[in-house]
Amino acid sequence: MSKTYRASAPSNIALIKYWGKAKDATQTPCNDSLSMTLDIARTCTTARLLPPAAQDHIAYQGEAQSLGSSRPAGSGPGKAEQHLARLRQMLGYSAPLAITTSNSFPADCGIASSASGLAALTIAALAAWTDSSSFEGLEQHGYSRSRIADFARLGSGSAGRSLYGGFVRWQATDNSIQQLWDQDHWDLADLIVVLDATPKTTSSSIGHHTADTSPLFLPRQAGLGQRTEAVCQALLTRDLQRLGDLIEDEALEMHAVMMSQTPPARYLLGRTSHFLGWLRNQRRLGHLPAWFTLDAGPNPHVLCAQGDASSVMARLQQELPGVRIIRDQVGSGPTLHLEQQDQPDCFQHQDLAPGRETRNHHPGAALRSGAHSQ
Ligand code: PMV
Repeated sequence: MSKTYRASAPSNIALIKYWGKAKDATQTPCNDSLSMTLDIARTCTTARLLPPAAQDHIAYQGEAQSLGSSRPAGSGPGKAEQHLARLRQMLGYSAPLAITTSNSFPADCGIASSASGLAALTIAALAAWTDSSSFEGLEQHGYSRSRIADFARLGSGSAGRSLYGGFVRWQATDNSIQQLWDQDHWDLADLIVVLDATPKTTSSSIGHHTADTSPLFLPRQAGLGQRTEAVCQALLTRDLQRLGDLIEDEALEMHAVMMSQTPPARYLLGRTSHFLGWLRNQRRLGHLPAWFTLDAGPNPHVLCAQGDASSVMARLQQELPGVRIIRDQVGSGPTLHLEQQDQPDCFQHQDLAPGRETRNHHPGAALRSGAHSQ
């Protein structure tokens, strides 16, 4: 039996969003984006070589997920199949692969499962094809982290940012992706409020291509450079109030473009708008030191200082009884291992960096059972 390689890649939440890209296949975004890599919201993907006559086999396990490409069964190759075909064509590998993939969070509902999914798939497939059980091993085969990020980006733009921990910038001019600061730069928490886990009906790939039909698209592009630099400055100086105000404006502006493009991409629900208004009001009253951002979905990410996360979480749970809230934080990026016999399952095995007390809030067993969420 051939060896099995296991990649675990985090999702990321964009603070400055990528919405709109070139119409060709280069996946070149219209603007720079900035993201915070997450720690708990991850995809775990294994890859193993199959005999030459076999066909690729992809098993989706755990929380329903299709690598960010919700589609009816039997409707042709999904994002994962297309991505494997693309990698083969670019790199010349022919060996078929057995893939398993699972998420620690609900997919296709705006928590960037295509970012973690396509990043993990890229790493695991390259590991199996090159017999590499570490990033150093991949590097020896010519796959530096930036090259892997570039391949992942072709599967889903935001996946390139998930190759790095901490705070990451994807530059539109040359498509380069760089870590600005690592995970120890700033101890922020991200409480992901799962208001609705139903898979979205407009995929972000489709939405990107018609973003420029919105009358708000060009005004947004004109102001983004300034906002991006302001977000960088707020990150540099760890100014949460400034960062929070900027990311709320940014999230609402992206959704205004989405709603006004043709055809419109409506991701927000009445419940989302109600929640955002409530959060802002609580903050104004001095009860909640927390700010929201949103991806292409109805589920708000609530950012706050790690020191305030327990009390903010308690307040959210009180306001939203029965709603699942995933307590996440800044993460250190993807991992790669050779799978051993008797190894604990992926989310238990996940490399929770030692010495960071805050990570102990999330033992792997809780992740598997869903006990981390309410
Ligand atoms: O990576 P894609 O093609 O699924 O697009 C993601 C776009 C947003 O999540 C809405 C914003 C971003 O920069 O992550």
